[in-house]
This record gives sequence, structure tokens and C-alpha cells, in this order.
Amino acid sequence: MVKPDGVGRRLIGECIGRFERRGLKLVAMRMRIIDETTAKRHYAEHAGKDFFDSLVAFITSGPTVQMVWEGPDAVAQVRKMNGATNCLKADVGTVRGDFGLSTQNNIVHASDSPETAAREIALYFYPEELLTYTMPDEQWLR
Ligand code: CMP
Repeated sequence: MVKPDGVGRRLIGECIGRFERRGLKLVAMRMRIIDETTAKRHYAEHAGKDFFDSLVAFITSGPTVQMVWEGPDAVAQVRKMNGATNCLKADVGTVRGDFGLSTQNNIVHASDSPETAAREIALYFYPEELLTYTMPDEQWLR
């Protein structure tokens, strides 16, 4: 997901371009302003932490872009490309390392496991919105 700061800083295309060029396959995408209930469900594991209220306020503060990317080891690859949660500690060459300066306002969110991905995808997409198709270059990416 591109977060409100990523959208506000006009980095949607930058993020999508990086995942595309890496060789991942986009199978679903939508733009929305997340409501408070959905935000609290999305970040339920952080409920009670000192940054929770601020995080919910931030993630509901403007448009976000939800995407589902497929590919070999896609969860790990996307997390590597996004960089460390704290942008100041993120490696140069990652989205956060190249564009971010904060821990909360860190431009992108990515699921941390296939199980989390399934839960988060269900928050934002109906099953029929996940497209099944073949990319012409798939034979080179296996
Ligand atoms: P994300 O990868 O979306 O997962 C949880 C989010 O909470 C994280 O990115 C940050 O936006 C935010 N977050 C995590 N830790 C902190 C923190 N210590 N202070 C403020 N925000 C945080």
C-alpha cells in the first residue's frame, strides 16, 4: 500500500514502477481513503501501543493505494524493496531509504507474511477483484 504521505508526495508511480521493473505481477489495485474502523482492523496488532492513535489518524488522513503483487517470494521481495520501518535506518536504494525521513510517515506498507497478506487483502478486495492472467515475460522470471 502506498500511504497518504506517499500519495501526497506524488510517489505512487515511483513505487509501482519499482515493483513492476523488479518483475512482480500486479493482480489488483484500488485507491481509497481508509475509514477508522478498517484502519483499526488493519493495524490491530499495534492496538495499545503509544503510536497507535497517531498511526490510525495518519493512515486515514488522505488517499492510499492498495495493491496486490504476485511473484516468487513476493512478500520478502517487497519488504526488502521497501526498506526498514524507520526510514532513517532504511538502506539507500529502498523506497523508504530513498524518500522517507520518519518512522510513522514511511510512504509504504507491506504485509509481513503470506498469512498477513491474506488477511490484509481481504480487508480491501473482494476475491473476484484479484485477477488471474499470464504475463508474457513470466518464462524469464522463474
Ligand atoms: P507499517 O509497515 O505500515 O507497520 C506499522 C506502522 O506503524 C509502520 O509502518 C509505521 O507507519 C508505524 N509505526 C511503527 N512503529 C512506530 C513507532 N515507533 N512510532 C510511530 N509509528 C510507528
